[in-house]
Amino acid sequence: MEITYTQTSLVEKRNKLRDRSLRIGFVPTMGALHAGHLQLLKQARLENDVVICSIFVNPIQFNNPADLERYPRNPEQDIELMSSYCDVLFMPSVAEMYPSPPKETYHFGQLETVMEGVHRPGHFNGVAVVVKRLFDIVQPDTAYFGKKDFQQLAIIRKLVEDCKLNLQIRAIETVREDDGLAMSSRNTLLSPSARRVAPFIYQTLQQAKTLTTTKNPQEIKTWIEEQFNKNDFFTLEYAELVNAETLEAVNEYSQAENIVACVAVWLDNVRLIDNITIK
Ligand code: PAJ
Repeated sequence: MEITYTQTSLVEKRNKLRDRSLRIGFVPTMGALHAGHLQLLKQARLENDVVICSIFVNPIQFNNPADLERYPRNPEQDIELMSSYCDVLFMPSVAEMYPSPPKETYHFGQLETVMEGVHRPGHFNGVAVVVKRLFDIVQPDTAYFGKKDFQQLAIIRKLVEDCKLNLQIRAIETVREDDGLAMSSRNTLLSPSARRVAPFIYQTLQQAKTLTTTKNPQEIKTWIEEQFNKNDFFTLEYAELVNAETLEAVNEYSQAENIVACVAVWLDNVRLIDNITIK
């Protein structure tokens, strides 16, 4: 695996790969890698000639400075973990990515008026700015994103469509710990006692899914809210049942072909998100 720190050297490498007509798969990350990230890299490896990965903790997508400050960073371990799945690792500095304060603004309509869009102002613009810049540098054939960040995936698909980018987006299923907790770099911030109760998030979503025969989406949303409100360890930020394509809230099953239940919760001062397809 080659490691590159500058846009210029990455563009040079990419041009050489293109000259040889090699298919490029790209996996953007913020590091502190876990098995979820590795699943994206493995899939990219299967479907491409060359895999490029980026590690960049993107300051402009953090709406909360304390969250950025304590975001886990582990570059040595990341390099070791990924080296057999990746050919080129791009690890730019903040100054390299943003020589001057970025001014681009992106609009995602309905997609950003719900859930993370409401609770993390500016977050998706920050994600879009960095992902668009990375796409422009890497020019991949296919880029890989996790379904764990369900709304981010929808935003990226819209970015590709609106900017008419010539690349495919591949969505990868959420990788979970044995006890069901969705893998996340932020899980390492949980205290041992918080980590023990964390599987409650996915257990609640799984139970919610079993209620579809007796409750409508509006009632399931209320039921999820009650479960978290009854549990002292958790503070629920939102529970939403949304149309998987438009992310509009749904009250009845007939309102959408595919419905996803999404939650954001606080546990031990750590913000965690998860989702499950219920229809
Ligand atoms: P990060 O949180 O590091 O995640 C990088 C990619 O890994 C994202 O596509 C995310 O959805 C995926 N991922 C995270 N946890 C996963 C899991 N348990 N199973 C499967 N995939 C998982 O998402 C970001 O970084 C950033 O916003 C980024 C897109 C890199 C832009 O800065």
